[in-house]
Amino acid sequence: MKRACVIGWPIEHSRSPLIHGHWLKCYGIDGSYTKVAVHPDEAEAFLHGLAENDFAGCNVTVPLKELAFAVADHREPEAVAVGAANTVWLEGGKIHATNTDTYGFMKHLEAQAPGWNQTGKPVAILGAGGAARAICYGFQQAGVDDIVVLNRTYERSQKLAADLPAGSVRAADWDERINCAEWASVIVNTTTLGMTGEGELGLDFSAASKDCVVADIVYVPLQTALLRQAEAHGLRTVDGLGMLLHQAVPGFERWFGVRPQVTPELRRLVLVDLGAV
Ligand code: ATR
Repeated sequence: MKRACVIGWPIEHSRSPLIHGHWLKCYGIDGSYTKVAVHPDEAEAFLHGLAENDFAGCNVTVPLKELAFAVADHREPEAVAVGAANTVWLEGGKIHATNTDTYGFMKHLEAQAPGWNQTGKPVAILGAGGAARAICYGFQQAGVDDIVVLNRTYERSQKLAADLPAGSVRAADWDERINCAEWASVIVNTTTLGMTGEGELGLDFSAASKDCVVADIVYVPLQTALLRQAEAHGLRTVDGLGMLLHQAVPGFERWFGVRPQVTPELRRLVLVDLGAV
């Protein structure tokens, strides 16, 4: 039996077992995917003990992503761009690490808003944390040559722009977010604003360009105030759940040898778990 898991501290909230468990059942694979609470002080030992404990690999969530990146013997370019790993597997006895948020976001964007890159206009990224890094890297890889990062703390967006491969990412003042729907081809919210209990982003869509696509990586609630506002102005929107589902695909394939599909059935399963249907 092949075994994988997700590690984090805490780990209770993780939806990964639901997603991977669904795929194991769908594809009739003799495997397991469990949650393991791993204290940061124990994480390095856990990763080095994967083989001994009969794990093919694992997902890694907060606060262990940077540590998993540091511990790995081989790091994929996606993980290097972010400086953190969320997916680990063993190959020839070595620990390999990648970050699948880039893949997850870009795949879902392509599916929900085909042609998003037709205008040639800049992309606006709100926030400058790990998710913003993964998504900036995705747009760079997709050939976007003007990616504008707008963050409350300006120094952090400057650092992000400086850390990513040169040229296409620049920092802008947080206040410039307000009118970004006028000049951006895609707006992506990677901040925590819009999550249940948090504040709102305060964008103004009154003069929005009709072809602007608005994406949120927040998925609780699924319909954030930002997405509702964009939809009310007739804009195409991309919710945060698709990224969560698609980012799970590469890990499953590595551990269990089958490339799984993100289906409406899987999406519904997670929505029910979130209490969103
Ligand atoms: P992750 O790594 O998961 O992407 P993170 O590092 O916790 O997330 O980053 C959260 C983002 O939300 C940051 O860009 C943060 O802005 P700062 O860098 O200024 O802290 C942003 N954020 C959180 N609360 C915010 C608020 N009230 N207003 C504006 N931005 C906020």
